[in-house]
Parts: sequence; C-alpha cells; structure tokens
Amino acid sequence: MTSAMDTNRAIKKIGVLTGGGDAPGLNAAIRAVVKSASGQYGLEVIGIENSFDGLLGEPATRLLQPVDVRGLLPRGGTILGARNRGGFIQRDNCDTPIHPDAVFEEARANLSRLGIDAVIAIGGEGTLTIAAEFARRGVTVVGVPKTIDNDLAGTELTFGFVTALDIATEALDRLHTTAESHDRVMILEVMGRNTGWIALESGIAGGADVILLPEMPFSLTSIVRKIQEREQSHSKFTIIVAAEGAAPAGSEPIYQRRGGATSQPRLGGVAAFCAHELEELTGKETRCVVLGHLQRGGRPNAFDRMLATNFGTVAVRALMNGETGVMVALRASKIETVPLGSATAKLKTVPPDGQLIQSARDTGISFGEP
Ligand code: F6P
Repeated sequence: MTSAMDTNRAIKKIGVLTGGGDAPGLNAAIRAVVKSASGQYGLEVIGIENSFDGLLGEPATRLLQPVDVRGLLPRGGTILGARNRGGFIQRDNCDTPIHPDAVFEEARANLSRLGIDAVIAIGGEGTLTIAAEFARRGVTVVGVPKTIDNDLAGTELTFGFVTALDIATEALDRLHTTAESHDRVMILEVMGRNTGWIALESGIAGGADVILLPEMPFSLTSIVRKIQEREQSHSKFTIIVAAEGAAPAGSEPIYQRRGGATSQPRLGGVAAFCAHELEELTGKETRCVVLGHLQRGGRPNAFDRMLATNFGTVAVRALMNGETGVMVALRASKIETVPLGSATAKLKTVPPDGQLIQSARDTGISFGEP
C-alpha cells in the first residue's frame, strides 16, 4: 500500500461514475479505479449509477470492492450504466448551455450525505463538461477520457477508439469482398458526429477509395468522378466510408431526429442518401451499411484495456496527490493531467491539412472534395 505520507489524507471515500455513450474499456477503467484506490490507498469506492443522474433524488450508488470488479477487463459496456447529459446541461432558446444551480446543489448535497470526498468521472466531452462545472463549484473531481470518437482535446487518444477502429476496419474488409464480387459501390456509415477520426483511420486501414468527413464537405460529382476513374482502370467496385456527420458542400448533415433542450440531435442517413444519389448518377448498383452501435458494444481490444487501466490508476493517483479539475490524458506516450476546461473547450477535429489526410491522398484516397 502507498504510504499515507505522500497522499491526500482528506480523501477516504471516492465515487466513480461513467457517462455519455458507452465505449469499450469502461469496465476496465472502473476495475482499475477500484483496485488501485482500495489496494494502494485503502479508500472506499462507491459506484455512482447512471452517470451524475445517480446523485439526484434518492442516490443510486453501491459499494465497489475488488471482488466486484473481477473479470471486468474483457467486458463491454459499463456495470455502472451510462446516461447522456441529462439535466446537468440544458440549452436555452439560443442553444447556449446552462448549468442549472438546483441540479448541481442537489447532487452536491447527496455527495456530502454519502460522505464521498472526491469523484472520478469517466466520460466524453458532455460528462467532462459537467465534471468541470462540479470542480468549479468546489467538488474534488478528476476526469478520465473515453469516447469511440476520439474527439477530446488534450489527449492523443481516448479508450474505446481503437476497438471501434478495429470493428470498422473489419467491416470494410468484409464489404470489399462482396463489393468486388458484384461490381458494386458499397458505402459504410460509421459514427462521428462532429469529427471523422473513425472514418479517416478505418478508411486508411481498410483501403477505402473515398472517405467522407464532417470536417471536409463533399460533392457527389467528385465521388462520381472517382468511381468512373476506377472503372476506367478496371476496378469495377468502389468502397466509401462516411462519418455520420459528413455533409454535401452547402448542406447540413442528415438528422434522424433534432435535439431538444436536454437531448442530443441524432444523426444518420448520409450513406443512404449517397447510395441513392450515386446509383442515379452512375447507374451502378450501390448498397449502404450503417455500422451503428456495433462500434461501441462488446469486448475492448488489448490496447483499450491497457489504456483504460492506465488512465484509471493515474486518475486515482492524481486525486491522492491533491489534484482536482483535471483530466488524465495520453501525451507523447505518457499519462499526464490537463485542466478539464482545456479538454472540453473545443473538440479535437481532423485537420484537413494534416499528415494523415496527406498520407490518404498519397495512396489515392479521395475525400470527395468539390
Ligand atoms: O459520442 C459517441 C457517439 O458514438 C457518436 O459518434 C454518435 O453520434 C453517438 O455516440 C450516438 O449516441 P446514441 O447512442 O446516444 O445515439
């Protein structure tokens, strides 16, 4: 056990929660927090269910001991449940985020009632924005970044992303053989609301011919040109991967449902839209597949288990070293802490002039630019 000399003695009991969309590796992170907090520092760990919502009303919490986290490394999802922003971030008529005092005060009162001295919040941009607000209100909080989208600033990677990438790449491999057999255009729609990291990296790894990203508006004419060039060079099939947030130049992304005051907008349909239009424009049979939540469910790969474990243990250490209002982050192969505010202020988007885009172009991939 780590000596009490170099630890924050005021912390005896911590809460841990998971928020936002689930991501492979969440359970590995919970396991790491529980094992290191109790094993190294003798802390009591309380699991807070359903993100910060578990701190409202009659709190939904449970004691987590090492025995409760056995066998969690390969398990997908989160044993604590996850919720999106709920009442902690609301939007006014101008879409400006508001943090209602009453909700935060209720949660804070429950934290003191439960004797929880500090919270480890595992989540993406929404959850960590709420965590930053708790820190601003004096609650001791350390954030752990997860999201399959890998769009959090301040960290080179979030856990969940590499597993999602493996799944999207495998889908592209499988689509290749059927596209080639039928001389078809195949379009794979992957997740990525505002950022196209999954589309870009799986597109490179899976040998896509066209990659459509939210950061780079596309033109159907340009995609048609690429399909025709391939036809002329005797490649009668074309593989396209589209992030759900990609949109034709001058148009909005395609929504299944607009968001409300407390709900996120739901994107989806760009692959079906492109399939319809490209079939009309090229006369080639075109099919689309929406990979959806298959990217999030199931076993984390080895890398994500390792990263989640590393993040979880460093988060406990950061708390015990007296840090608060920070997020653990992977930077140049080391786990460090960065201010929560800097991690959530702006999403990490794909730079259109970055090296990965250049490498993709150098291997003949088109981004469908007008
Ligand atoms: O934030 C991760 C994410 O996977 C996005 O890429 C996607 O738009 C969203 O979650 C879908 O979330 P939900 O499951 O709430 O519809």
